[in-house]
Amino acid sequence: MQFLQSFICLLVFFTCSALSVPTRPQRKGRSFKVGRIRRSDYVPFGPAALRKAYSKYGITPTQFGLDILDFEPIKLKPFDSEASRNVSEPDQTGAVSAQSVQDDAEFVSPVMVGGQMMVMNFDTGSSDMWVFNTQLDERSTQGHTVFDPAKSATFQPMEGASFNITYGDSSFAVGGVGTDTVNIGGATVTRQAIGLPTQVSQSFAEDTASNGLVGLAFSSINTIQPQRQKTFFENVAPDLDEPVMTALLKSDGVGEYEFGTIDQSKFRGRMANISIDNSNGFWQFESAQFAVGRGPLQRIRAAPTAIADTGTTLMLVSPEVAAAYYEQVEGAVFANVAGGFIYPCDSALPDLSVAVGNANLATVPGSLINFSEVGTNTTNGQKICFGGVQSNQGSGLQIYGDVFLKSMFVVFDQRGPSLGLASPAR
Ligand SMILES: *[C@@H]1O[C@H](CO)[C@@H](O)[C@H](O)[C@H]1NC(C)=O
Ligand SMILES: *[C@@H]1O[C@H](CO)[C@@H](O)[C@H](O)[C@H]1NC(C)=O
Ligand SMILES: *[C@@H]1O[C@H](CO)[C@@H](O)[C@H](O)[C@H]1NC(C)=O
Ligand SMILES: *[C@@H]1O[C@H](CO)[C@@H](O)[C@H](O)[C@H]1NC(C)=O
Ligand SMILES: *[C@@H]1O[C@H](CO)[C@@H](O)[C@H](O)[C@H]1NC(C)=O
Repeated sequence: MQFLQSFICLLVFFTCSALSVPTRPQRKGRSFKVGRIRRSDYVPFGPAALRKAYSKYGITPTQFGLDILDFEPIKLKPFDSEASRNVSEPDQTGAVSAQSVQDDAEFVSPVMVGGQMMVMNFDTGSSDMWVFNTQLDERSTQGHTVFDPAKSATFQPMEGASFNITYGDSSFAVGGVGTDTVNIGGATVTRQAIGLPTQVSQSFAEDTASNGLVGLAFSSINTIQPQRQKTFFENVAPDLDEPVMTALLKSDGVGEYEFGTIDQSKFRGRMANISIDNSNGFWQFESAQFAVGRGPLQRIRAAPTAIADTGTTLMLVSPEVAAAYYEQVEGAVFANVAGGFIYPCDSALPDLSVAVGNANLATVPGSLINFSEVGTNTTNGQKICFGGVQSNQGSGLQIYGDVFLKSMFVVFDQRGPSLGLASPAR
């Protein structure tokens, strides 16, 4: 088994000597853990994950790659929910896109809503909580667990309120709002605002592994009208020992979110404390330098800022970072047919280091950047893989999703606010 190396280093030195651990006094007290489970049927499919990320952030691809003729896309098991649903027609991303419209939630976590267990996606890139519910038509709810407000003694409708969350132009959820008791791993909020969509886009309907979203960004981007509502994390924070949520999203599929405490046994070495700019509602921080492998540090000019997003699978970086990275991968090309960077699966992938804040550098190991097989080279029969690091197409933000977060122990800290990053314990 490959040993995953991830590091947080001081940027000025750019060396990863073991730094002493400033142990903070251990606080005993209430903390709440919830498992993050990998879907058993999950098949990673890079092009779909990339399209989903573009759609969520309203990114319209403007840079197209090379036309590759000797490429045969991988055959995916067709998505089985209602075969009748029409697969969207091929778009600019070509042959591969028609293969799957399966949504790309790899990890889900159990959440109790009004006493009903719902498996949901945690999303630090949005701020609405919403659930599949009985007001949706049968076509949308097929294969989903559905929240029934009538069966909850604690549910209250929020008269006159509505929510409308649009992730780009192809995925959305709209409808009314209510409040109910939400319990995540034992952390409980009694009057959590919950969107009860009457309509969801096909992409959500088809993702039967997830029955809604728990938005964990800042409530300044909550979409409830006429009055914005707080997120679960903001509501529960005053009851916690420390107003933190930690994420340990291990690459082997089993991970954990924990509310209320920073478990010192989950990381090693220093924890970097990075200040967050939440003026856009995101867990956003400066990320203005990068290095490929052991190469020199280079400036990121196009978008020197990034967000930490558990709801996005890939790591989207400035175009110059993606280009510089894949220059170091043998046989890598930016290919129209896949909508992103592809390379022969046996090519070695270097690590990618990115600045987090102005004083620290985080290293994502190359093994985590090898995202998924995407096809075959018809000339030589080689397998072709899709990279977990892709271009953000020049949009103003870099989106550091699971590919980045899986290599770290991450603390979402409302004090500051700030983000703690450390290497996970071995
Ligand atoms: C899918 O779309 C095609 C053409 O747009 C149509 O002919 C076909 O009936 C549709 N299939 C289903 C199952 O809706
Ligand atoms: C939701 O918002 C989108 C984009 O802002 C808008 O186009 C759409 O009409 C809205 N839908 C409802 C039901 O309000
Ligand atoms: C990349 O992943 C694919 C499967 O997804 C695997 O076959 C291949 O060996 C991996 N490449 C490297 C260099 O580890
Ligand atoms: C396929 O293999 C041929 C011969 O090795 C190579 O020239 C070509 O660039 C490869 N194509 C892709 C998409 O990797
Ligand atoms: C990080 O720094 C902020 C001040 O900017 C502080 O409030 C917070 O407690 C620190 N977080 C940790 C985990 O030390």
